[in-house]
Amino acid sequence: NIKTFGCQMNARDSEKILGILQTIGYEETDSEQADLVLYNTCTVRENANLKVYGRLGQLKRYKSKNPDMLTILCGCMMQEPEVIERIKKSYRNVDIIFGTHNIFKLAELLAMRLFDQNAKRMIIDIWKDTTEIVEELPNSRKYSFKGGVNIMFGCNNFCSYCIVPYVRGRERSRNPEDIIDEIKQLVANGVVEIMLLGQNVNSYGKTLENPITFAQLLQRIEDIEGLKRIRFMTSHPKDLSDELIEYLGESKKVCKQMHLPLQSGSDRLLQKMNRHYTKEGYLELVRKIRKAVPDIALSTDIIVGFPGETEEDFAQTMDVVKKVEYDSAFTFIYSKRTGTPAAAMEEQVDEAVVKERFDRLLAKVQEIAAKKAAEDVGKVEEVLVEEINDHDATLVTGRTSKNYLVHFKGDKSLIGSIVDVKLCESKGFYYIGELA
Ligand code: SAH
Ligand code: SF4
Ligand code: F3S
Repeated sequence: NIKTFGCQMNARDSEKILGILQTIGYEETDSEQADLVLYNTCTVRENANLKVYGRLGQLKRYKSKNPDMLTILCGCMMQEPEVIERIKKSYRNVDIIFGTHNIFKLAELLAMRLFDQNAKRMIIDIWKDTTEIVEELPNSRKYSFKGGVNIMFGCNNFCSYCIVPYVRGRERSRNPEDIIDEIKQLVANGVVEIMLLGQNVNSYGKTLENPITFAQLLQRIEDIEGLKRIRFMTSHPKDLSDELIEYLGESKKVCKQMHLPLQSGSDRLLQKMNRHYTKEGYLELVRKIRKAVPDIALSTDIIVGFPGETEEDFAQTMDVVKKVEYDSAFTFIYSKRTGTPAAAMEEQVDEAVVKERFDRLLAKVQEIAAKKAAEDVGKVEEVLVEEINDHDATLVTGRTSKNYLVHFKGDKSLIGSIVDVKLCESKGFYYIGELA
């Protein structure tokens, strides 16, 4: 049993981990009372860590019932030395720990643990960083019709609140040929939609021997016959080029959706966050994007309560939210991450103040999202059908180009195909539709 915490990078890594385990003979199960339980962890906010510690206690009880059970931990949280110390001290039930840079070693570590004479030893293998990219790992993809494709790993931006660069290492791009080959192979196996993954896709290609831009990569991917839809995340505003915006205006395959993290609307805080753009610069980008692709859906990430945030700073964030009118926004309460520059900043904001601002922001974000969703009611949109609805088996669920969910009458023969659906009613986060 594999449990994945965190972002799409981690979800993609878990597909590789499952592939390795299946190759050596393991079968997947839904239950955590299994012979092997693996947690692929996230550490972007403190509560991600707390969740893992909580569950490790539960796993301890399962292990007392099944002494042969293997508990394996990997992912971003394991790249933090103090986490390893705490596990060594308090969670002796863990058998193997590896990190974000050496997933390919999993089978070897398992063999070491299973055939170890000294059977109680905890095996820990963490690499601090790597410049390497291991291609051609076995992998077991969750969907047969859509898939994530890594185009780069790591991050060099060091936003002052963020731990990702410390746990994912330096930015490195995959060779375009490897990316194209992987996508061609996916398409040959029936995939119609791909999501290109990177912490900052707009700076793709800079580390290559023969540098190319993200827009040039997209162009080459667009030429792949049989591929219908392209998505990507995440875009950093500071590296979003005019070349890319122009390309989005012409592309037939890139979906009408972009995730463009704002983090804050205050120039003062953006500078303290090390984001390298201003409020006005961000708004100008949005104007350019909407000029190129008028009905594009925009989503964002926002942090409330960054150290030193004043009511005036927060008002600037609210102002951007009102001006841009995001289709959706992920709002986060600032979480102090040990080792990041922001953790050492003075004037951490009072909890109650942060909570009150967060609630105001969330209410505004939801109000605007409902309004945006309502604008498309009555339209016919292309929907990629993904699955049978969880609650009602006469319904299927799919996504529009703008990445909105739609539920409509249909059966499993539709899964994986793109069909025209009329959006009849908006429920805020999703639509009720009917085949057009
Ligand atoms: N590379 C991506 C995001 C990775 S983390 C990007 O640049 O957008 C996803 C989101 O988590 C970030 O956009 C940020 O809004 C949030 N986040 C990161 N560190 C955080 C922290 N210390 N506290 C609260 N939210 C944080
Ligand atoms: Fe974190 Fe910033 Fe890198 Fe995103 S761009 S992963 S927020 S450091
Ligand atoms: Fe979390 Fe690591 Fe992703 S810290 S958000 S799983 S890169």
